[in-house]
Parts: sequence; structure tokens; C-alpha cells
Amino acid sequence: MTASLGFIGTGTITAALVRGLKASSLADTPVVLSPRNADLASALSTGLPGVRVARDNQAVIDEAERVILAVRPQIAEAVLRPLVIGPDTLVISLIAGLRIEAISAWTGARRVCRAVPLPFVEHRRDVVPVFPPEPEALALFDAVGRALPVADLAAFEVYSASSALMGTYFGILETAEAWAVTEGLPHADARTYLASLFGNLGDVLRDSTAPLHDLRVAHSTRGGLNEQVFARFCDARGHAALENGLRSVLDRIRAGR
Ligand SMILES: NC(=O)c1ccc[n+]([C@@H]2O[C@H](COP(=O)([O-])OP(=O)(O)OC[C@H]3O[C@@H](n4cnc5c(N)ncnc54)[C@H](OP(=O)(O)O)[C@@H]3O)[C@@H](O)[C@H]2O)c1
Repeated sequence: MTASLGFIGTGTITAALVRGLKASSLADTPVVLSPRNADLASALSTGLPGVRVARDNQAVIDEAERVILAVRPQIAEAVLRPLVIGPDTLVISLIAGLRIEAISAWTGARRVCRAVPLPFVEHRRDVVPVFPPEPEALALFDAVGRALPVADLAAFEVYSASSALMGTYFGILETAEAWAVTEGLPHADARTYLASLFGNLGDVLRDSTAPLHDLRVAHSTRGGLNEQVFARFCDARGHAALENGLRSVLDRIRAGR
């Protein structure tokens, strides 16, 4: 029987992970959820086989052989300090910026690693950085996409910062959509058009191993419209704004060291 998996924090990322896991080669993994966010915990436990809700957070740890931490960073210390985690339990923390040493000091846990799954785990299409590359955690994330073993904390932090681009991706679409509507397009048509454009570009990216520079050039006719937009974007220091955002997030993550 597959070792059971507990979750402290039943929110967005836990729901995606549990749904992905239950549709994967590890579907027989018994899952134990913390009770807070009762509506979601109840929906998962009634809708999926082998998922139950524990009495409280300590019961999750006592009932599971491996535990995933998925509460928000702001409340992590208050949630974790009262908990006691044995030396054999594997702890996989998804909590952004929280150091392994802090988790061990608060809970007594000795086997701790960190991972950055994104909501795409639900459809088993995510690449998940894992630090340090604990084999059981790698096997878990391989089942919901592909685990990316990371041996170095500094590199793991760069992956964490890079994962914060999701909002900007949609923000670019939102800006383009608002512009197109201002220029007279019906809102629904603008949205349909941009979704097709970006969706197809995503497919091109996924199917290719070419350097990103080459893909940009291949999608920019010399002297053409695409080249012009990117040139204006760079003239307005758009690339510097992006680097600035990533740097600020990396600084925030490293401040938690
Ligand atoms: N979402 C992502 O894409 C993503 C990706 C990678 C990592 N993460 C990390 O994963 C963590 C969770 O993110 P999320 O987006 O899933 O957040 P979320 O949707 O807010 O879920 C967190 C859950 O924790 C619950 N909670 C609050 N206090 C608790 C307590 N004392 N004991 C147990 N559970 C408690 C909340 O319940 P209530 O609703 O009742 O308050 C909430 O449902 C964060 O640290 C985040 O950095 C998220």
C-alpha cells in the first residue's frame, strides 16, 4: 500500500495537488486533509476516493507518513509551532520563502524539503522544483507532471521567484484586452482573440526546444509589426521593469532565509 499523504492547509494548491494525484499513477495514495476550510475539505473528501478529513492539524501528522505544508507564509509560524513532527515523517513544504531550518526548529521535523508546485499539477502538466531532491518527493511530483531536482538553495529560490510570473502573464493579456476594447473591439471578441493568440504561442513554446531568442526572431518579421512592438516595449524599459519585479521577489524570498 502506498504511504499516506497528509496536508496542513486545504486551499487552492492542495486541491489542485489532491485532484492531480487522484488522477495519477499514485491514485491509491491515502490522503488526510486538515479540517480548516471545511467546504473544500468536504468537497474533496466526498468527491474523491481515499480522501478523508482529520480532526485537527496534529491528527493529520499522526495519521500520515508524509506531510505537505500548504498554509500561507504569514500564518506559518502560528500554525506550525504547536505541531510535533517525528524524525521519520517526510515533510514537503510548499510555503513560499519559509526556511527548512525554521520548520525543523518549530516542529522537530528532521526530513524536510521544499517544492513549488503550481495549479497545473491538477492536470499533471507541471514541472515542480524540489529542494533538496528527496527521492519520495520527486516520485510524488513525477506523478503529477515532472519533478525537477534542485541541489542548491540559491537555484531553488530563483525557481520560486520565476513562479511569480503567473499574475504578470495574465496582466499583459488584461492590458492588451483593455487597449483593444478602447480601440473599439467588443470585449468578448478581444478576449477570444487574445486567448487564441497566447494559447497557440504556449503550444509553440511547449513543442519546441529552440532558444527563446530564436522563437522571438522567428515570430517577428524583420521591419514588421511584432518587431516594432517589442522594440517599443524595450525603449520604454519594459524588460527592465520585468527584471525589477523578479529581483524584488527574489530579495523577498531571500530575506526569509
Ligand atoms: N496557489 C499556488 O499556486 C501556490 C503555488 C505554490 C506554493 N503555494 C504556497 O502554498 C501555500 C498555500 O497557498 P494557497 O494558494 O493554497 O493558499 P489558500 O488557498 O489561502 O489556502 C490556505 C488554506 O490554509 C487554511 N488555513 C488557515 N489557517 C489554518 C490553520 N490554522 N490550520 C490549517 N489550515 C489553515 C485556510 O483556510 P481558510 O480558508 O479557512 O482560512 C486556507 O484554505 C502558500 O504558502 C503559498 O505560498 C501556492
